[in-house]
Amino acid sequence: MTTTMPGPVVVVGAGVMGRGIAYVAAIAGATVDLVDLDPDVLASALTAIERDLQTGLERGKVTPSQAAEARDRLTTSTDLRASAAGSRLVIEAVVERMDVKHGVLREVEAVVDADAVLATNTSAMSVTEIMSILDDPSRGCGMHFFNPVPRMKLCELIRGAHTSETTLRTARAAAEAMGKQTVTVNDVAGFATSRLNALIGSEGMRMLEDGVASAEDIDLAARLGLNHPMGPLEMGDLVGWDTRLDILVYLAEHLGDRFTPTDLHRRLVAAGRTGRKSGHGVYRYEDDGTRTNAPANLTNLM
Ligand code: NAI
Repeated sequence: MTTTMPGPVVVVGAGVMGRGIAYVAAIAGATVDLVDLDPDVLASALTAIERDLQTGLERGKVTPSQAAEARDRLTTSTDLRASAAGSRLVIEAVVERMDVKHGVLREVEAVVDADAVLATNTSAMSVTEIMSILDDPSRGCGMHFFNPVPRMKLCELIRGAHTSETTLRTARAAAEAMGKQTVTVNDVAGFATSRLNALIGSEGMRMLEDGVASAEDIDLAARLGLNHPMGPLEMGDLVGWDTRLDILVYLAEHLGDRFTPTDLHRRLVAAGRTGRKSGHGVYRYEDDGTRTNAPANLTNLM
């Protein structure tokens, strides 16, 4: 595969999104180091990436040699500074918290070369504010990937107030090398996609709280009646209700009360039912992420 990936690439945060971004970057031909604070998360990320490789092979999307090369090119680490030194593109995919993102970017900027690009995969937060921590914010931009990364075709590029055209060009070329189509949006909370998605998900949760229908029927109604590929509650399980909560709190602060999370949503997160990643959200999941047949049960949370 020919590639315009600016390798080496470092992906920071190996959760739901970081592992997917690392996978598509390695398949695109980049040397990738996937970094997380938690070695157990890194181990589970490698298992998930191997599963994605197998799926890619079975579906004919990845050749055996591509898979072997991608495995060779992908490493993991808990040492952010050592990994980031010498990298050309750093994509942060840590939790949706401004202070955590600032901490990561400050450490990264201290060790990368002057022309390295620093991207954030934030779902909703201001890219200008995230990149304000940098001495050179012109090197920062948003690269908003979608879940599951190997399957979703879009990467939303976000131009912060100080983002340079060179930075955007590098990010666009990298996203395209990773097989994504791009749209470029200005820096408004929630961008073009998360505003819609967060509202639909929140309304699904409100309908559940109001007893409009069962979780299964709310999701089925959205799939069959609205032709959505996934219902709002299944989607929340996929995104992670903890991440969705952070997004809604931020959007409520910046765009108004219509984004205020419901009590049921808060109780779900407080109970550790974050979704697929914890094995239990609205629905229950096996270790490999497949949904069990158990009906949704929220009685203890209502
Ligand atoms: P997650 O909670 O699954 O993973 C976050 C990871 O960051 C965790 O493994 C955690 O250990 C790690 N982390 C936290 N602080 C760190 C640090 N200082 N250094 C290194 N690693 C650190 O979160 P998820 O869902 O992957 O979200 C990550 C980012 O992607 C967030 O900004 C989120 O808004 C965004 N996003 C999430 C989507 C989703 O569907 N979950 C979709 C698109 C964007």
